[in-house]
Formats: sequence, C-alpha cells, structure tokens
Amino acid sequence: MADPAIISKQQTAIATPYELWQKSEAIPVITGYYIEDLKTVHLEPWPGKGGLGAFVNLTGTGDADDAYVCEIPPGESLKPQKCMFEEVVFVLTGRGATNIWTDGGNKQTFEWQEGSIFSPPLNTWRQHFNGQGNKPVRFLVVTTAPLILNLFRSVDFAFNNNYVFKDRYDARRDYFSSEGKTLDMGMGKIWESNFIPDAYSFNLPDRPERGLGAKIIKFAMASNTLGIHISEFPIGMYKKAHRHGPGAHVVILSGEGYSLLWPEGKPKQKVDWHEGSMLVPPDFWFHQHFNTGNKPAKYMAKREVRWKPN
Ligand SMILES: [Fe+2]
Repeated sequence: MADPAIISKQQTAIATPYELWQKSEAIPVITGYYIEDLKTVHLEPWPGKGGLGAFVNLTGTGDADDAYVCEIPPGESLKPQKCMFEEVVFVLTGRGATNIWTDGGNKQTFEWQEGSIFSPPLNTWRQHFNGQGNKPVRFLVVTTAPLILNLFRSVDFAFNNNYVFKDRYDARRDYFSSEGKTLDMGMGKIWESNFIPDAYSFNLPDRPERGLGAKIIKFAMASNTLGIHISEFPIGMYKKAHRHGPGAHVVILSGEGYSLLWPEGKPKQKVDWHEGSMLVPPDFWFHQHFNTGNKPAKYMAKREVRWKPN
C-alpha cells in the first residue's frame, strides 16, 4: 500500500483521490463497458494484498462503486486487511476460508467455494485463505472504495481506522452460518443472509410480474448499502428495457446472449455475454438483456442501494 498520507488538493487536480490510490497499488486497471470473462482476466502481483489482482473500473460505475479481481496462489493467503468501504465477494473459482475479527475480539472462520457470496462487515479485519494446495482461488469483489476515498481524500482514514461498527457486526457465532430470513422493506421481499453458499443453485422465487418465467431474489448482506439480486429469464426471452443510476455490476452466472446499452436518442452498444462475463450499464443509459442460448440465463447484479437493511 502507498504511504498512508492525506492526498493533497494539488494532486486531485489531475486525478481523483480514488484514481491516485489505484495507481499507487501498481496493478492493471481494466476499463470499458464490459469484461468478456472474469475467470481469464490478466492479473499481476499485488503487493498490497499479498496475491495477484487487477482493478475493474467499467465506464458505468460513475465513481459510485468499483470492482477488482483477486487471486490467491495455491496454499497461500492474502494479508490481513480492514477498510472503511464495503466489499462484496463473489468466488469465481476454487475454495477456501476467511477469518473475520475486530481488534481484541475472537476470530471467526467460515469456508467458501466457487459460487459463494459473502461480505466482510464494514471495517472488520479480514484474511482470505486458499484451501487448495494445487490450484489458485479467484474472486471478484465489488466495493464502495471510490465513494470513501473521494469523499475523505485519505488513504489512512480508509485503511487504518479503528472505528468499530457494532451495528454491522456483533461477532455472534452464527453470523456467517445462520440460515437467513425474509425481510419486507416495503419494496418487495428481500432475503437477509451474511453468507450465500452457492449463487448458481440458489432457489429463486417466481416473479411473473417481471415477465413470463422470470425469477428474482434480492439479498441484503452485512447491513450493507451495496445490494445484490439474482435474476433469471427463460430461453428466447428478454428483460424489459429500463434505466437507473450508475454502478450496477451485472455478472452472468449461466446462459448466453447479449445486452443493448444506449443513452436516450443515441446509438446502441451491443455486448455479447456468457457465463463469467460482466457489464455495467452507464448512468441512466437504457439497457436490455436478451437470452439467445439454449437454457435460462441467470445473472447477479450488485449495486449501491439507498436503504439500510437493518
Ligand atoms: Fe438494470
């Protein structure tokens, strides 16, 4: 990690504080509208993490959130770290375990595998371990780092802060193993759970009002502002064109097809996708997803939401 100094106003004239921090981490920064395959993205050694990585800053994030892909070599672990921004982890390949703790508290360990989703609670210590001796682990992490670094302009504040969010993490023994429960937030039902073992096989409820054969579930995790939902739509169908604010990271879990992205009155961009692809529709661009494959298409979306599920 870079010298944890406050980033000066003079430096911010040429780049945002978030961009300066990224540069100091000295790993690739991937841009564009989409990633064709998260599982094959080129990574380089990431001394700040202790593994390999690349930032993914797609055009549509609008500095609301960002992502990185990280790999842990066989039999190794990442460095312990805590941060004042939210992180939602999706395991792309491999299996392993994570320790979570706060200063002076006991460590809590849980195991994960390909398809698992979890979120280390805000500013808790976390350390990730590869549980295999012969294969790397690779995961995607969506974060709110741009918000925090651009607002406070301090790497020290973001990574060396002793504040403990007791309302986010109470260290109860079943924090990562309880079954979860349904919340009714007045905007549809939401499944609250701090650990999803397998996003690929999670049972999705029918939502016919969103289209014939549509299935959708929303997750609330670790009392985050980053929300998650998984959506499935059948063979030969499409999702209705719609638009919203920036930062929705859409990760394709299964199927193949394409999406159209366009700002009002402007030409359409076409993005082809398959399992492992990711796209982020830019701020208030219309977007529409089409399933052209021979099985239902399923995707997971992670995006900042404006409520606190607590
Ligand atoms: Fe959308």
